[in-house]
Amino acid sequence: MKKILLSAIALTVAMAAGAKSDPVKVTVNADQPGATINKNIYGQFSEHLGTCIYGGLWVGPESKIPNIKGYRTDVFNALKDLEVPVMRWPGGCYADEYHWQDGIGPKENRPVMVNNNWGGIVEDNSFGTHEFLNLCEMLGCEPYISLNVGSGSVQEAAQWIEYMNAENGPQAKIREKNGRKEPWHVKYIGIGNEAWGCGGNMRPEYYSDIFRRYQTYCRDFNGTSLYKIASGATDYDYEWTEVLMDRIGSMANAVSLHYYTVSGWVGAKKPALGFDEDDYYWCLGKCLGIEPVIQKHLAIMSKADPENTIPLLVDEWGTWWEPEPGTQLYQQNTMRDALVASLSLDVFHKYCDRIQMTNIAQVANVLQSMILTKDDKMVLTPTYWLYYMYKPHKDATFIPTSLENVAVKLTPNERYAANPDETATRPLPLFSSTASKDKAGKLHVSMSNVKLDQEQEVTVSLNGMKAKKVSGKILTSDKATDYNTFENPDKIRLADFDGAKIDKKTGAITLTIPAASIVTLEIE
Ligand code: AHR
Repeated sequence: MKKILLSAIALTVAMAAGAKSDPVKVTVNADQPGATINKNIYGQFSEHLGTCIYGGLWVGPESKIPNIKGYRTDVFNALKDLEVPVMRWPGGCYADEYHWQDGIGPKENRPVMVNNNWGGIVEDNSFGTHEFLNLCEMLGCEPYISLNVGSGSVQEAAQWIEYMNAENGPQAKIREKNGRKEPWHVKYIGIGNEAWGCGGNMRPEYYSDIFRRYQTYCRDFNGTSLYKIASGATDYDYEWTEVLMDRIGSMANAVSLHYYTVSGWVGAKKPALGFDEDDYYWCLGKCLGIEPVIQKHLAIMSKADPENTIPLLVDEWGTWWEPEPGTQLYQQNTMRDALVASLSLDVFHKYCDRIQMTNIAQVANVLQSMILTKDDKMVLTPTYWLYYMYKPHKDATFIPTSLENVAVKLTPNERYAANPDETATRPLPLFSSTASKDKAGKLHVSMSNVKLDQEQEVTVSLNGMKAKKVSGKILTSDKATDYNTFENPDKIRLADFDGAKIDKKTGAITLTIPAASIVTLEIE
């Protein structure tokens, strides 16, 4: 926990939002390097849901839409450029109804099933284990497989791992017959998904036993050590984490957590577009509500695991708006979503000694997507460009920053009514920063100006390093409500930023960040 305390941002509440403020002062403590920011914090999630897989990643080799062996060429290239480190599949809730044997072998022999979780649509299983694992291989990313614990069997799970990872034996023979001789060496295995809900509505005591049983038969094959992930809590369910940690102990390599910036229940969610000032600030306050949630889960985990050997993986997170009519969880993506991504990643960096992976939901056409597709068209969302901008932080050393003169806005905490432990408002700092040093010694400082309608002057001072050269990138648009469309796909995209200047006398860097925008500086 020491590192967390060291990296804690010191916030000075300067004044309420709205008034002209002094420059925000960012102090980058390059002399106090922290842990490595695991590149898997930038993980993706792909589920058989809506058009994430079919139409998003996969169109099939016979499609008129340009494709590489069935994978959309445009989407493939965009993901390749993004350098996705890890991708989770096949769900989500879908995982606990998925029977992997339905998705192997000749396509014409694959049984058809109904995707009962997501709209009751017919699933022809044309995208299965080979299609997913080959995609990961082609992208150079690690696959993260979520096993069917809810409605599957231990045998089915054990055989799937053998099929993917064994060099010899019956499952390896079937795999070879299906066109793949070499095992894929899959490492990340989730033992169920949301076991407290769509994954079986289990109690934590029961799931803990189920976890112990399943993990016994998740074998290592030919030198591939499995990394077994226990299905963790949702949001504020601290009891789940407590029971799990007490009962599964070191049998898990990691425990997961799901936290969505969700705007209400089914039918009562807010729209992704056309939001007002109140909605904007509420959303970012709710997004930052993840930090105390992480702190509480980590504190509970430390009680059972005082050496903090078991990491927390936030394997589902992101914004969840009212879906567009007639779709399954398809939503647009604005600059507000990009800010949810930057603020969340800033938090994940801060706890990078304990958070070793996160998977934003989801990679294409579902929730806070990187990519949206329609027929043969594709757009990259502001969230994609934010991930692109943050690439230098992957596998870099976390550098703590402290902030002064940050205005704070109080945003409503809808949990307050039901939870007397909560406060009625969530304090939302209107500026966020994170920094890291890469292997070449370059410092990257990312800063988000959260203010909806005011630019922010900033002074960056470095401790333990002298700035000789500075360059930058910016993600910005006229309005926070702006987004990319199929007709105008490049309205928002990452641009060069040359507005940062080094003061020769003091060595400090000065810049101005437009409202609702994010800048990353590269400092040498
Ligand atoms: O990401 C959409 C759904 O949200 C997932 O299927 C489920 O795990 C979660 O509730």
